[in-house]
Order: sequence, then structure tokens, then C-alpha cells
Amino acid sequence: MSEPLNAADEQMLTRAVELAEAFVGFTSPNPAVGAVCARAGRILGEGCHRKAGTPHAEVNALASCTEDPAGATLYVTLEPCSTTGRTPPCCDLIRERRIGRVVIGCLDPNPRHAGRAVALLETAGIEVTVAEGAMAERCRELIAPFAKAITRGLPFLRLKLALTLDGFLADASGTSRWITGPEARAWVQTLRARVDAIMVGSGTVRADHPSLQPHLTSTVSTSEPVRKWRVLVDRCRAIDESDIDDRTWVATRDLGYDGKDLEAMLRALCTKGVNDVLCEGGGRLGAALLEAGLVDELDVFYAPKVLGDPAAVRGFPIMPRPLAKAMAFEPFESRTLGQDCLLRFRPQASVALTATE
Ligand SMILES: NC(=O)c1ccc[n+]([C@@H]2O[C@H](COP(=O)([O-])OP(=O)(O)OC[C@H]3O[C@@H](n4cnc5c(N)ncnc54)[C@H](OP(=O)(O)O)[C@@H]3O)[C@@H](O)[C@H]2O)c1
Repeated sequence: MSEPLNAADEQMLTRAVELAEAFVGFTSPNPAVGAVCARAGRILGEGCHRKAGTPHAEVNALASCTEDPAGATLYVTLEPCSTTGRTPPCCDLIRERRIGRVVIGCLDPNPRHAGRAVALLETAGIEVTVAEGAMAERCRELIAPFAKAITRGLPFLRLKLALTLDGFLADASGTSRWITGPEARAWVQTLRARVDAIMVGSGTVRADHPSLQPHLTSTVSTSEPVRKWRVLVDRCRAIDESDIDDRTWVATRDLGYDGKDLEAMLRALCTKGVNDVLCEGGGRLGAALLEAGLVDELDVFYAPKVLGDPAAVRGFPIMPRPLAKAMAFEPFESRTLGQDCLLRFRPQASVALTATE
């Protein structure tokens, strides 16, 4: 049954979300999932999904229980799996361990599976509650990249740009590598760790030769640095070999990119198990992705600087539009990081206007 949760349920599901959060960016093509097994407000066991091909959150939570979980409540951020994948169905395990109640944060976004576990568990006599409201929203947010990949065959795409107050990405010399300060750059490192791949256009590769790797150690293994896929989007195969390493995909070489169809390129990326992509510019690639309606989130840093030079590198070199047809965005977060302001947006549906509109 779908219902708002009481405070005790909310507390346990919040803990399950926290467990899942720690592994966002490490589980693709699977979603990040957390689970808590509790009885009368006491946690018996907890766990999360750490990596594709390894046990699911429910399995880890039940394995860690300090006492027999029969009759206890299992809180899980995502509907348990009901089919055999690389691991056996979690619904079977829940029945075997005689769990009394299951609280689900959100249903499986895959239309072929959504609600299937609910029916199976209820048929087995297990009480099922599916969260509603803010808690359900939080759980859906956690798996937004997985949901987009599984339903549309496209990765979730975040576009991050750092701009001067007058909207420039770099000065006219193209050598102004850092527009923002250390606090903003540290935030970007954290964002990089939460995605599967980091993408830039070949103009940025030529200007900056960026490593694009988060300079952080992994939550999975603290001894290992986090290494993400780098995606270099070229058109004419002119990327220098010295910019390519064993974690790099060059769009024309590795993703069948024809220099025009960015959506097909992103679909190819999705088939490689990439659910979540961070595009860090530059302006021309970012603009092309916006024009094509492929951006799900726009993260803009404004540095308190003005260049005032029309020859500087523009942030949004998109097709000119009248105000009534301007690209429209909805803000969902704003904050100050050091000297810089971060504004985060989701595009409104009208973003993908074409030249004929
Ligand atoms: N402040 C920031 O946040 C930030 C971020 C990134 C970069 N930058 C700066 O911005 C400058 C580079 O930006 P940019 O706009 O010149 O270059 P860019 O967007 O990084 O790259 C443009 C190149 O991407 C390739 N491309 C492939 N498909 C494309 C498509 N559908 N549409 C457009 N381009 C496509 C083309 O390469 P071909 O040459 O192969 O045709 C094009 O020349 C550098 O100075 C860099 O330092 C600043």
C-alpha cells in the first residue's frame, strides 16, 4: 500500500538512503540502494549495494543481522528485485528469512518490474508499504540516473560550467584555466566522484589537457584513487594521443559518433553501463547538448569577475532566440562556495527548441 510514512519508518528509511548515498557513482549500471532491517526501533542489520555483480542491499542488510530477523521490518530504498539477474531475486530471500513487513522507498522505474515485488511479497503474506511524499521523492532522486537509463536508454546528463559575471568561460587567450576558487573546485571533485563518466569537448582538451579524474580516494576502498571514464567529444579525430589513457573513450573512435548525433553517442555510452555523465564544457559542446535537449541538470558557478571582452570564450553559444522562446530553467539549489556562487537548475521542457520553431 502506498502511504506517507510515520516518523519511526521515516527515520529507518533515511538511514537506508544514507547507506546508499555513500556508493552513488560506484554501482552503475545498477542503482545505488540501501537497506535497514529493524525491530521496534532497533536496527538489527544494515547494508547497501556496493558494485554491480555483488550482493544487493537487502542481502547485505539481512546477512549483517545480529539476530534472527523473522517478523522484523526491512526498509529498502528501491523495490526489491523479483527476477534472477547476476544474483538471485531478493524477494525470495525476504520470504525465506520470514520478514514481517517491507517498507519500500520507491518502485522499480522499469515498467516491466514496477510493483511486481509488491504483489509477490503481499501474496506471501508480507505487509508492504510503499513510501509517498518527500521520502519517496528522496529515494527517486537517488536513482534518477538509473531510472533514465533503464526507461530511455540514455544517461542522466549534468552540464557544469564556470562563468564570469558577464558569462565568459575563459579569456580571449584561452589560457585562463581556473575561473573559480578552491572551494568551488573541491565541490566539483565531489560531483565527479558521484558520476560514472566525465565528458568534455575537444576544444577543452586542446586548451586544458584536463585529467578529469576526481582527486579523491574511494569510499569503496580507501587505498585506491577513484577513476572514472573520460569521454572526449571530437568531430574530426584530432585528439592528441597524449590526451588519451586507458580510461578514455574518444567519441568518434569508441562511441560511433558521427560529429552530429549527440543523442546516439550518449546511447552508445549507456550501452557501456554509464548511467550518469558530467559534462564540464566547453561552451560549444555544452550549447550543442542543450540545443539537443539532452541536459538533465545545469550547474553553473558564477565567479565574481568581469572580463568585458567580446572576444573571450562565451559560456552559452546557443542559437539566438527571442525572449518568449528563451531556454528556460528551474532553479533547485543555490549556495556560495568561497567567493563563487553555485546555481543549479533543471531545464524546463521547452529547452530543446529547434531552428524552425
Ligand atoms: N570555465 C569553464 O567552466 C570551462 C569549461 C570547459 C572549458 N573551458 C574553456 O573553454 C574553452 C573551450 O571551449 P570551446 O567552446 O571552445 O570548446 P569545447 O566545447 O570544449 O569543444 C568544441 C569542440 O567539440 C567538438 N564537437 C563535437 N561535437 C560537437 C557538437 N555537436 N557541437 C559542437 N562541438 C562539437 C568540435 O571539435 P572538432 O574540433 O573535432 O570539430 C568542437 O570544435 C577553453 O578555453 C577552455 O579552457 C572553460
